[in-house]
Amino acid sequence: MARDWSPQSWRSKPIRQAPTYPDAAALAAVETQLRHCPPLVFAGEARRLKAALGRVANGEAFLLQGGDCAESFAEFHPDSIRDTFKVLLQMAIVLTFGAGCPVVKVGRIAGQFAKPRSALTETVDGRELSCYRGDIINDIVFDEAARVPDPARMLRAYNQSAATLNLLRAFAQGGFADLQRMHQWNQEFVATSPQGARYEELATRIDETLAFMAACGLTSQAVPVLRETEFYTSHDALLLPYEEALTRVDSLSGECYDCSAHLPWIGERTRQLDGAHVEFCRGIRNPVGLKVGPTLKPDELIRLIDALNPDDEAGRLTLIVRMGADKVGAGLPALVRAAKREGRRVVWSCDPMHGNTVKSANGYKTRPFDRVLADIRSFFDVHRAEGTHAGGIHVEMTGKDVTECTGGAQAITEDRLGDRYHTHCDPRLNGSQALELAFLVAEKLKAERAARGTPLRVTAVAG
Ligand code: PEP
Ligand code: CO
Repeated sequence: MARDWSPQSWRSKPIRQAPTYPDAAALAAVETQLRHCPPLVFAGEARRLKAALGRVANGEAFLLQGGDCAESFAEFHPDSIRDTFKVLLQMAIVLTFGAGCPVVKVGRIAGQFAKPRSALTETVDGRELSCYRGDIINDIVFDEAARVPDPARMLRAYNQSAATLNLLRAFAQGGFADLQRMHQWNQEFVATSPQGARYEELATRIDETLAFMAACGLTSQAVPVLRETEFYTSHDALLLPYEEALTRVDSLSGECYDCSAHLPWIGERTRQLDGAHVEFCRGIRNPVGLKVGPTLKPDELIRLIDALNPDDEAGRLTLIVRMGADKVGAGLPALVRAAKREGRRVVWSCDPMHGNTVKSANGYKTRPFDRVLADIRSFFDVHRAEGTHAGGIHVEMTGKDVTECTGGAQAITEDRLGDRYHTHCDPRLNGSQALELAFLVAEKLKAERAARGTPLRVTAVAG
């Protein structure tokens, strides 16, 4: 166990972004109830993900992390879960086949409810109310009572997460992820786009390979890796009373795991070295993520790595870079060099969303797709120049045909943002934009591997 740490030790540290619950007794009652609930994930699974991320840190695999900006109670529906899962599988196939690199799949799902906010209040028509902090805390409706933090929402979020995870496990292991069903993951609105057609082409090539393998006796009935996949969950570990209540001592190792998700991460606004969120995450044994924005200095990064990964365990820490397309080139090299100089084994992942948010002329929060792609290009370029592995991407996306980010092959214009703008928080890539992005990443990754002389291989296609 980490020194001087307990699941509660965060409580004595300065905390940011924490809601104030008006009824302390009601909060305590919910925490007790959650402590008695079954864990959502198991320590052994978190260890397995850590090992997989260790391979990413060593340059042998790639991390694909994606999902909603914020899950919501109102949009809870099996079709949304299915469609997000389908697009993630498609992206994984493009990366695995295109770059010959095993892909570790992690959803921003089954717990991604709490949102850090830049402003504590929101003003509409001259009326000022507390901000919306995500469905696990308060209600998005612009009403004074609705914005009061309600601890009972944690139980609802827990139950929704449990049901979501149940479906995801069924999809991952129950035949839906079978490579023979690859064509069925291509939804109609994606299939009619240029990258949908490109995906079909690729799937047909894989079909030929599968037919050859089947002729050799390697069918998906005989080889589980062809019909099943491993899929993990992640979210911003922002609401610490919830995370603490779901922390369990693993009976095998005697160590503490946050069993609300496989991979909790620390957000850009809550990564203070002496703060509550770093304190909580340093003691849990899950793999953890840390958002890295443009203001983080190299020495501060090293101190955070010291706190979060003192034993330099490969796979324990994923640095999720979210600087913005125009800042990556100038800001990232110093950080990469510092980590390399100190010999720290980390996963470098690129979040091309959070540094590229703009307001459209008609008032929508949006992200120009070109800037998202430019961010990824710069990220790969920096790693290429530094001789390090561009280890992953972290995207806000949905399987639905939404119009939230401008651009892409569908050429979504600002005027069309209002057509299907459904997000509860930040703008997401739609299924077609997400696939387009995957093709770009596959090219970049293939080039990186070729430059390093890593032989292309098509191992663990579905694994
Ligand atoms: C997020 O991932 O939704 C988020 C708010 O990110 P960040 O902490 O990087 O701003
Ligand atoms: Co977001």
